[in-house]
Order: sequence, then structure tokens, then C-alpha cells
Amino acid sequence: MSAATPPTPSRRERPARKPVERRAFLRASLIGSVSAGLGGFALGALGFLWPRQGDGLFGEVILGNARDLAERIVGERRPVLVPEAALSIISWDPSDGIAAGAYGGQHAVVTDSVGLMCLDTGACPHLGCAVPWCQTSQWFECPCHGSRYNKYGEWTGGPAPRGLDRYVSFIDGEGNLVVDLGSPVTGPARTANALEQAREGPSCVDA
Ligand code: FES
Repeated sequence: MSAATPPTPSRRERPARKPVERRAFLRASLIGSVSAGLGGFALGALGFLWPRQGDGLFGEVILGNARDLAERIVGERRPVLVPEAALSIISWDPSDGIAAGAYGGQHAVVTDSVGLMCLDTGACPHLGCAVPWCQTSQWFECPCHGSRYNKYGEWTGGPAPRGLDRYVSFIDGEGNLVVDLGSPVTGPARTANALEQAREGPSCVDA
């Protein structure tokens, strides 16, 4: 008489899992959310504290022939970036009464219908990240937390408290655009979009 062979299991037995205790689960969730919050804060603080390009320039700075700059901006449909001063030059239309009322006194006027404005794109008003231009949307879009600004630096979305800050600028006697880095102008309030401009294509940054 042969000994009975134990039945072969059809699949591997897994060791029984211990149920996750509610308290341990809550503790892990709390640690995860605090870590994520601190990580976001640290990133923002780094962006704010990191030395910006342009921190070495002061006072009035000549940026080039105003008419040439305006022609280039309009022709290429993009701002002229001035990395040394951490700013972007955009064009606007002073013949538009609303625009003239909102921006006319502080920004350069080249002709009756062409003005120039120097936006501080080196420091997002949210936590200080640089804000690059997005050619497809024709907006400025912040890669850090997704704030967006139209091509005039007016706030269109995201956590930033206002539009992009800017600097006083003017045309000198030789036709040059001059920016006064000693005269910053606080960006327009979220609700004060004088030059409303809709997005013109896909965004470069996920919201
Ligand atoms: S730094 Fe936060 S949205 Fe720009």
C-alpha cells in the first residue's frame, strides 16, 4: 500500500496580508501631505531667493532704437527679451483710449499708434520664478505654478495676485527706448485688464 501524496496546490499560496490600521494610514497620509507642502514651499522660496539676471543693472538703461524694437516685436509677433535686465519689451497701441488711460503715462510712446512697455518677466508676482513667453498662445506662462499673463502682462489665470510688474520707460532725444529700472510699477490688478487679449493657440505650460 503506497503512502498518500499531498495534493499539489494549483497556485502559490500568498502569506496573509495584515490589514492597514486606520491610525497608521492617517499618519502616512499626514506625513505625505506635509512633505508635499514643504516641497512646494521650498521650490517657491528657491525661485524667490535665487539671484536674478538683471540684479546688477540699476537706473536708466538704453535698450536700443525704439522704432527698430517696435518693428521687430510686431513683425515677429514676440516680445524682445532683455536677459541682462530680466525684462521683456512688448508693444501696445496708445491710440486705443482705454490703453492710453491705463498705461499711457508711464510707458514709452513711439508713434501715435505704437508704444513700448518693459515688463518684469524675471519675477512672477506669485513666488518670483522667471516667466517665459509662449509663442503658440501669445501669452507669458509661468512654469512654476501655472500663472498666465496675456501679451501685455495682464493676469489671465493661476495663483499670481496681479499682472506682471513693469518699469517706467520713455524715448530719449535720439529715439532710443530707455527703461528706468529704479522706477518699478506694480502690475495691474486681476480685474483691471485694459488690453484684454484671448489666448491664440495651445499653452506651453500645463495649468
Ligand atoms: S511663481 Fe508661482 S505661478 Fe509663477
